[in-house]
Amino acid sequence: MVDRQSVTPGNPWVAQLARIQGIQQELPSVATYDLVLEDPTVAEAFKFQPGQFNMLYLPGFGEAAISISSDPSHLASLQHTVRAAGNVTTALSRVHVGDQLGVRGPFGSSWPLEACRGKDVVIACGGIGLPPLRPLIYYMIQHREEFGRVHLLYGARTPGELLFTDEFPPWQAAGIEMAVTVDLGYDDWTGDIGVVPVLFHRLNLNAHKTIVMTCGPEVMMRFVIFEALARGIDPRNIYLSMERNMQCAVGLCGACQLGPKFVCKDGPVFTYEQMEPYLMLEDL
Ligand SMILES: Cc1cc2nc3c(=O)[nH]c(=O)nc-3n(C[C@H](O)[C@H](O)[C@H](O)COP(=O)(O)OP(=O)(O)OC[C@H]3O[C@@H](n4cnc5c(N)ncnc54)[C@H](O)[C@@H]3O)c2cc1C
Ligand code: FES
Repeated sequence: MVDRQSVTPGNPWVAQLARIQGIQQELPSVATYDLVLEDPTVAEAFKFQPGQFNMLYLPGFGEAAISISSDPSHLASLQHTVRAAGNVTTALSRVHVGDQLGVRGPFGSSWPLEACRGKDVVIACGGIGLPPLRPLIYYMIQHREEFGRVHLLYGARTPGELLFTDEFPPWQAAGIEMAVTVDLGYDDWTGDIGVVPVLFHRLNLNAHKTIVMTCGPEVMMRFVIFEALARGIDPRNIYLSMERNMQCAVGLCGACQLGPKFVCKDGPVFTYEQMEPYLMLEDL
C-alpha cells in the first residue's frame, strides 16, 4: 500500500502566503522555486512526505499542482521544480525573488517508504518526473542502511535537459547506483542513448525483494512497468505517480477522478495494481 499521512496544517482550502526566497533556473523552461511560508506558526507545522504536492496559487492566474522537490528533513524552505507548461506555470516563470504566492498543502499520498525498508529499490523517471522523486532520494541517502541497493534510472530528451546534474556525483558517492540515458546525444555525450525502460537491462534484480517507483510521461511509465513485470516484480510492488488536472485537491470537485479514485486524495502515488485498468487506456 502507498503511504498516506495527512500533515496539512490548518484549513486545506486556505492558501498560505509564501515568499520566494530563491529561483534556480534549471533549464530554459524549468526553474526551482525556494519558498518560505510567511506565517511562522504555519511554517513550523508544515511537514511533508516524499511524493506529496502543493497547490501553488498566483493571484490573477489560478492554481497548479506542483510536487515538493526538496529534502523533507529541511523544512526552512520548500522547493518546487516547475516547467512552464500553461497558464499558471508560465506566469510563475515570470516571478522574482521576494515576490509572494499562495501555497495550499501538502496533499496526496507519498512514496512507500515502509514497503521499501530492507528491499532493493529501482527509481525510474524521465524529464520533469525526477523532481517528485528527489525528496525520496534525499531520504534514502539519509537512511541508507535501511534499504538494499538503490538504483536510479533517469532520462531526458537531450543531455541539456537533464535536471539536477550537479547532484549526481554526491548521490552516487552516497550509494545511489545511477544510470542516465538520453534520446539524442551530442558529440561529447558518453552515456547511454535510448529510453529509460531500456536501462532495466543493466540491472540484476531479485524480483522478490525489489520495489519499483516511477514518474514521468505516461508512455515511459507504461514501458517501465512492462520491464518490471517481465522481470517477475509483483504489481503491488510497482508504484507510479499520476498527474491529472487538479482543482480542489481535496477530493470534492471530481476534476482528477479516475474511475472510483481521486488522484488528489487517493494518489498521486498509486500501486500499479490500483492503476492498471486506467493506465493502459489511451488518451485517458
Ligand atoms: C500531483 C501532481 C504533481 C505535479 N507536479 C509537478 C511538478 O513538480 N512540476 C511541474 O512542472 N508540473 C507538475 N505537475 C503538472 C502541473 O500541475 C500541470 O502541468 C498543470 O496543468 C500546470 O498548470 P498551468 O495552469 O500552468 O497549465 P494549464 O493551463 O492547466 O495547461 C496544462 C497543459 O495543457 C495545455 N493546454 C492548456 N490550454 C489548452 C488548450 N486550450 N488546448 C490545448 N492544450 C491546452 C498546456 O499547453 C499545457 O501543456 C503536477 C501535476 C500533478 C497532478
Ligand atoms: S482535484 Fe478536486 S477531486 Fe481531485
